[in-house]
Amino acid sequence: MMGDTVESYGALKSLPKRVKIVEVGPRDGLQAEKTQVSTQVKVELVNRLSSAGFENIEVTSFVSPKWVPQMGDAADVMASINRRDRVIYSVLTPNLRGLEGAIEGRADEVVIFGAASEAFSQRNINCSIAESVSRFVPVAKAAKEAGLRLRGSISCCFGCPYQGEVSVASVLDIIARFAELGCDEIDIADTIGVGTAGQVSDVVRAASGVFPIERLSGHFHDTYGQALPNILAALQEGISIFHSSVAGLGGCPYARGATGNVATEDVLYMLNGLGIETGIDLNQVIAAGDFISQQINKANGSRAGRALLARTEAIGCSN
Ligand code: HMG
Ligand code: MG
Repeated sequence: MMGDTVESYGALKSLPKRVKIVEVGPRDGLQAEKTQVSTQVKVELVNRLSSAGFENIEVTSFVSPKWVPQMGDAADVMASINRRDRVIYSVLTPNLRGLEGAIEGRADEVVIFGAASEAFSQRNINCSIAESVSRFVPVAKAAKEAGLRLRGSISCCFGCPYQGEVSVASVLDIIARFAELGCDEIDIADTIGVGTAGQVSDVVRAASGVFPIERLSGHFHDTYGQALPNILAALQEGISIFHSSVAGLGGCPYARGATGNVATEDVLYMLNGLGIETGIDLNQVIAAGDFISQQINKANGSRAGRALLARTEAIGCSN
């Protein structure tokens, strides 16, 4: 069935023809690693991902190294990567100091990050939601003046590790505030991977009433194994931008127990099967996932990646 167009799939007819995958492994995937990953390995990972065809890679964060030590080499990473013209290199910037680092590091896009949950906002960026928005006002203004793309990422849209339930109204409220700041794109994030497909449909449908669906993205962690059905539900609502981490790397340092983002290889395998274009070479992503898993000495968290690697090894053995 590979290569068939989306139209062949009856009930799934309305899926977008093309999807943008934002590869967040180098940032979200590595930020919670306890052992320091060398700058060289981070750079090699980004370079491999650039070669694989991603149009947007989240490279690092210009945050306090006291809060997230793993991202302390942000400037060095940004100075050392091989850039490709068509790739958007994004970085997280919680404040003006972060923005200055991003500009010096020649980032194409900066990401302000807030939450739909008060409790998570306090733990992650040490301020209330309202304070975070006030702090982002000058960041957003300066980013626009510098000609950078601006993305807003919203944590805990489906549940919070500290306060539990999060209302749809509070998700819509922060989306509206980020829209006012001039965000080009807004991420609806399931930080702890608790959401399920019906909830995702409801939140995405409501969100599309306050921000254009073509500029909303889905950022799903896979803690409860729900990320792929959640992506399918979001696709059916019209979302065409998704975040994922090569080899399923990661977790948020301020969301205990949360595992990595959905694995990029698994998302690509599903999208390829649905005939949805991404422009990304799955085999190169699998090789990048194998590379980083070996470097950080962790099992590869992508099921499609592991299966396809095992198949390649089996074919190699029989030759
Ligand atoms: P604070 O302690 O309230 O602020 O932190 P501060 O201004 O008092 O700064 C504390 C220290 O950090 C000072 O150093 C500052 O100079 C320094 P000291 O004087 O003590 O030596 N500092 C910085 N250093 C480098 N770059 C900077 C910077 N800013 C201050 N930009 C702050 C507030 C926001 C800085 C802190 O809470 C922070 O950095 N938080 C980042 C947390 C983080 O990165 N979390 C993970 C990313 S979000 C995520 O993963 C979710 C997402 O994936 C979506 C999802 O899944 O939900 C996006
Ligand atoms: Mg995340």
